[in-house]
This record gives sequence, structure tokens and C-alpha cells, in this order.
Amino acid sequence: MDTAQAREVLGEQFDLAFEDADKLIRHLGLARDARILDVGTGKGYFAIMLALNGYSVLTGEPTTDDSVYARQDWLTSARAVGVDHLIEFKPFEAQEMPFDDASFDAVFFFGVLHHVDQGARTRVLQEAVRTARPGTPISFLEPNQEYMKLVLEHHPSHPDPADPSAYAHGLGLSQETVNGRFFDCTIFRREAD
Ligand SMILES: C[S@@+](CC[C@H](N)C(=O)[O-])C[C@H]1O[C@@H](n2cnc3c(N)ncnc32)[C@H](O)[C@@H]1O
Repeated sequence: MDTAQAREVLGEQFDLAFEDADKLIRHLGLARDARILDVGTGKGYFAIMLALNGYSVLTGEPTTDDSVYARQDWLTSARAVGVDHLIEFKPFEAQEMPFDDASFDAVFFFGVLHHVDQGARTRVLQEAVRTARPGTPISFLEPNQEYMKLVLEHHPSHPDPADPSAYAHGLGLSQETVNGRFFDCTIFRREAD
């Protein structure tokens, strides 16, 4: 199924994520066989976007998360657009990832960092840097003010967006920003050894 058909099948909420996710995926131009980690599965929209672009994705979230944002039926959505075979789910906490050093060619956090406890965010950045191969992109998409206007209508207690760079001090990362319609993205890369 192409992305235009997927937008029709998955509806308005997926559509809000689509444009910015699509822009970032095109910007990065990852290799077809890239090993990709998507942290914070939620509704699975970002993992589905990657899969619609032909990538295999490993995604996960903590089993202990009982918020409304976790344990969503991402699999039904992935099946509905024919990409469930490209998405593997494994439960984990981003502050203690069960992956070897330098396991991934790209690590994504789509709408996730502001849902992580403040005290764990520095550790989450460290884990992302540890598990990404040197020089590969670690992308944090956080909602901007346009998206917050929409989300606060339905979820008045939704947490404020996080600034990923506030948690990256001392990690020796280069930084690039890609602003979107609803999500702004900070891309970090560790210098190659
Ligand atoms: C709003 S959802 C993210 C949307 C999702 N990425 C998508 O594409 O549909 C927030 C996610 O962050 C996850 N999360 C919160 N704290 C986390 C942590 N410490 N480690 C990993 N994931 C976490 C939640 O379980 C939930 O899956």
C-alpha cells in the first residue's frame, strides 16, 4: 500500500503525524537495510511510516506504562496497511535499553521524550547514544506550538514539549534541527571514533 492510501485507511490522527515523519525520513535517506530502533511505540504511527517506506523496524515501550499513550493497538493499524511483517515489538525502557553498544543505524523518538520522567531524560539520551552506531542519526521529534494547540483541546494535562538539547550536554554530539508543521526534530550524531 502506498502512503496516500495508508493516510485514508488510518485517518486523521495518523495524518497529523504523516507530513513531518515523511519529511524527516526523506531528509535522512537511510539505507534500505538500515537497522532501525523506534523508541516509544504508542499508536505505532512512526514505526508504520518507516515500514511504509520499506524499512524494517524494532519498536518498544515499557510494559509498566499504564498511561493512555501506551499499550495502544498499533498492530491492528500496521495490519490494516499491510506492514505488520516489517515491525517487531520488544518491551523495554529507554533509560535501560536491552541492546548492545552500536546496534542501530538510526534511533527515533517520535513524540516520546516529553512523556519520559524528567529525571530519566539525560539517561535516555546516553542510552540512545550508546546504542546508535557512531555518525548515525538519533532523532527526537517533539510537538511544536501548533500541535500543542490541538492536543490541549482533548488532553489538558498533556506534558509540555521537551527540549532534547537540554539533556545532551557533555555527550559530544553534533546537532541539526528540522522544523515541521506539527513536530520539530532535533537530530544528534555522535562523532565517529
Ligand atoms: C505519545 S506516545 C508516542 C507516539 C508513538 N511514537 C507513535 O509513533 O505513535 C508516547 C510513548 O512514549 C512511551 N514512553 C514513555 N516513557 C518511556 C520510557 N521511559 N521508555 C520508553 N518509552 C517510553 C510510552 O509508553 C508511549 O509509547
